[in-house]
Amino acid sequence: MSDPIDLAAFPRDFAWGTATSAYQIEGAVAEDGRGTSIWDTFSHVPGAVDNADHGDTACDHYHRWPEDIALMKGLGTDAYRFSVAWPRVVPGGDGPVNKAGLDFYDRLVDGLLDAGITPSVTLYHWDLPQALQDRGGWTVRETAEHLAAYASVVAERLGDRVTQWATLNEPLCSGWIGHLEGRMAPGLTDLTAAVRASYHLLLSHGLATQAVRAAAPGARIGLVTNHSTVAPASTRPEDIEAAARMDGHTNRWWLDPVYGRGFPADMRELYGVELPERPGDPETIGAPLDWHGLNYYFPVTVSDDPAGPVPYAREVRLPDVPRTGMDWHIDADGLETFLLRLTEDYGVRRLYVTENGSAFPDTVGPDGRIDDPERTRYLEQHLAACASALRKGVPLAGYYAWSLLDNFEWAYGYDKRFGLVHVDYATQKRTMKTSGWRYADIIRAHRAAAAD
Ligand code: FCB
Repeated sequence: MSDPIDLAAFPRDFAWGTATSAYQIEGAVAEDGRGTSIWDTFSHVPGAVDNADHGDTACDHYHRWPEDIALMKGLGTDAYRFSVAWPRVVPGGDGPVNKAGLDFYDRLVDGLLDAGITPSVTLYHWDLPQALQDRGGWTVRETAEHLAAYASVVAERLGDRVTQWATLNEPLCSGWIGHLEGRMAPGLTDLTAAVRASYHLLLSHGLATQAVRAAAPGARIGLVTNHSTVAPASTRPEDIEAAARMDGHTNRWWLDPVYGRGFPADMRELYGVELPERPGDPETIGAPLDWHGLNYYFPVTVSDDPAGPVPYAREVRLPDVPRTGMDWHIDADGLETFLLRLTEDYGVRRLYVTENGSAFPDTVGPDGRIDDPERTRYLEQHLAACASALRKGVPLAGYYAWSLLDNFEWAYGYDKRFGLVHVDYATQKRTMKTSGWRYADIIRAHRAAAAD
């Protein structure tokens, strides 16, 4: 097979990784003192998740983590991004620490290091302790303070071995999808709640950054945000303005405050919700970071929608473009464009692609093989985009494929499979897909060339 990826563009010490998150893979939701999270609650609400799926067992990673580390070794990856479940460590959200919960992550980190794999810890991947939700969740300031306290507990325990830390994963999804669109936990559809939640999420990022730095000197801290390039559906001025609004909603709202520019004035006006600001917050939220993590999946195209919900921009489904099993438009150029924007516009000095990948309806062949040419192609195209961005000077230090394993894909349940490794949920049998073997080949080829 011809190699479409310019491997020479990747630096010698480029981190090749995979990513997962706690609720999507761990299972064991009632074990060893774990508390309940908003996703435990939400996934058991009738109709909230396709097929009434939930994460009670998921990939049983809580018990099978040694096997999963062996899979990473099989891939040849040298980095692994996972999240710590807040309700395992501080079951009530604040208050007593559950030692058994911390012990699990301790074992996992040691196992990774023994395997020569660098752990990258995300502190919050959407699993807010339910007890805090009951006290207002992200709509109240205390939740941000509790996240910081939990962050210092984790950093104190793991900070002697973990240097790579992310505060939040995709605050956009918690803020907008969880509180405005209602398609994710906690399932609200309330603009005021959503804007307040978005504010407190970013505040929690700033407070957790301080907490981790204090607890683990030498930690390198970043934020993981998801973005899409936004194009207008036509050259009509209304559509061009709609695209600018969607860009504000999806991209600028989550980046400007973190890079010292404050919350964008045009969006504040559009939302018309007063922010719960206090003196000193902008500096907390905008404190310099060691790296930024970009999760990129798809671009969006929008038209003006004055009667619709904020930001009055409707997504237009382009005909005749390639799509994944999520119905997401495949466009690797969008990844390069966004990497360049973070570098040139926001001045980011160290970047990771912390998630990128695709779901397709896989079929297991009669010989047990899972041949997934579409996922393989998606991976190759997006790595080629990374190479091109590197050639243009983007300081990209690593790539984490989403995901190591098929897993609980939130409101879509288990039908949507993103793994490089297939999971048979009835038996928990793991099988490397063709895309996984291809990723291993790419990593091997890069290492061989880098060693020359
Ligand atoms: C991202 C999430 C991740 C996974 C992928 C497909 O939005 O961070 O947990 O669900 O999408």
